[in-house]
Amino acid sequence: MYKENCNMSDNLHFIHVGVGHFSNWWADNVIPNISGMATLVAVVDMNPAVKERAIKRFCMEERQFYTDLREALEKNKVDFITVATPPAAHESAVDLAIRFGCDIVCEKPVADDMESVARIYKKVNASGRKMIITMNNRFSQDKQSLEALITSGKYGPPHFVYGKLSMSSDRLLAQLPIVPTRPGHAAGPVGLICGASVHQIDIMRQMTGSKVKTVYASTWNPDWYKIKDDKLALVMMVMENGVRTVCEYSAVNAATANGWRNDYIRVECRDATLILDNRKIHVISDAGLPFEKYAEYDLLKRDDNLWEHALLIKNLIDWRNGGNEPDCSLYDNLNSIAAACAAAESSICGEAVDVGQYTARFFGGNQPL
Ligand SMILES: NC(=O)c1ccc[n+]([C@@H]2O[C@H](COP(=O)([O-])OP(=O)(O)OC[C@H]3O[C@@H](n4cnc5c(N)ncnc54)[C@H](O)[C@@H]3O)[C@@H](O)[C@H]2O)c1
Repeated sequence: MYKENCNMSDNLHFIHVGVGHFSNWWADNVIPNISGMATLVAVVDMNPAVKERAIKRFCMEERQFYTDLREALEKNKVDFITVATPPAAHESAVDLAIRFGCDIVCEKPVADDMESVARIYKKVNASGRKMIITMNNRFSQDKQSLEALITSGKYGPPHFVYGKLSMSSDRLLAQLPIVPTRPGHAAGPVGLICGASVHQIDIMRQMTGSKVKTVYASTWNPDWYKIKDDKLALVMMVMENGVRTVCEYSAVNAATANGWRNDYIRVECRDATLILDNRKIHVISDAGLPFEKYAEYDLLKRDDNLWEHALLIKNLIDWRNGGNEPDCSLYDNLNSIAAACAAAESSICGEAVDVGQYTARFFGGNQPL
């Protein structure tokens, strides 16, 4: 679809970096949906073997594929880059974007460890560039709808939020003779919590309207699951506004009850329990009139029907045009990624971690939170 709009002179121009597993999502669900706002001019992947697939999936011409981001930036003047390389490669892409005066849309997590997160933050901040982290799940239609119901105040303030992703997707790995390593993706609790649960941590911030104060986490595998990397995580957080939250993540359950984009989230408000389950919102209450015992709510609609990554990119463009700094800017995301890294540390040391103190360790006392 974007090809039809290639000549739109008011469109911004961008380069996409990274043609791995998740690039199919970008090619099918992101780039076509932003065609009226931004035009893809080049695709980069350091692995020349993906060239043919990249050209096909992204509807590019051969000359538009590069194996080096610097060369792509030298040959194409663009307004921003979209980064879908492994977390360990995010910082080098950010460095080049800053060098060439581009804004950045970067896949979560910001980086593969908190040292790199802090360096990226300081460099982006000093450069004045704008950077968005793609916490797309918070911007899905169901989560936006639940957030709107909470903030309407109709049922009073929340005091507890529980979130669940319960999936069977990684059970088959146990049958492989060798589990393939993923270069540039962290392993262990960091990989699990910063790579996956970070979405839930961010959603807990969205639903409570607060940053994370303290986190306690545990990651593990069932006895029968012999693969080294943990696939289950339990993250408990006390938020700065006093709301308690728990998130449960598993990729090795016997069945997928709540997969990506079909989360279960229960919000205990003063006058009702709000439940999002597989994209349906139910409300139950024993508080008496005027609160019904049971109600259902339709999901929100948007005229432009933009959600997830496309909505994040629209927000970046509005921000560039003088709008307010949106949710999921690098600044906004700092508490989510710090809470995720602190949760990984908690899982390793077995103790609760204060997220403010944890963050300060990486900012030399000048933490921006
Ligand atoms: N938002 C979401 O819901 C979501 C879901 C899945 C993955 N992700 C994120 O997307 C990113 C990519 O994940 P993936 O599973 O596609 O990874 P992947 O390992 O499958 O693919 C990464 C690609 O980047 C390329 N690459 C690595 N370093 C590079 C460099 N310096 N320059 C150019 N190309 C480089 C590799 O050759 C590979 O083709 C990660 O940050 C991941 O966390 C986000």
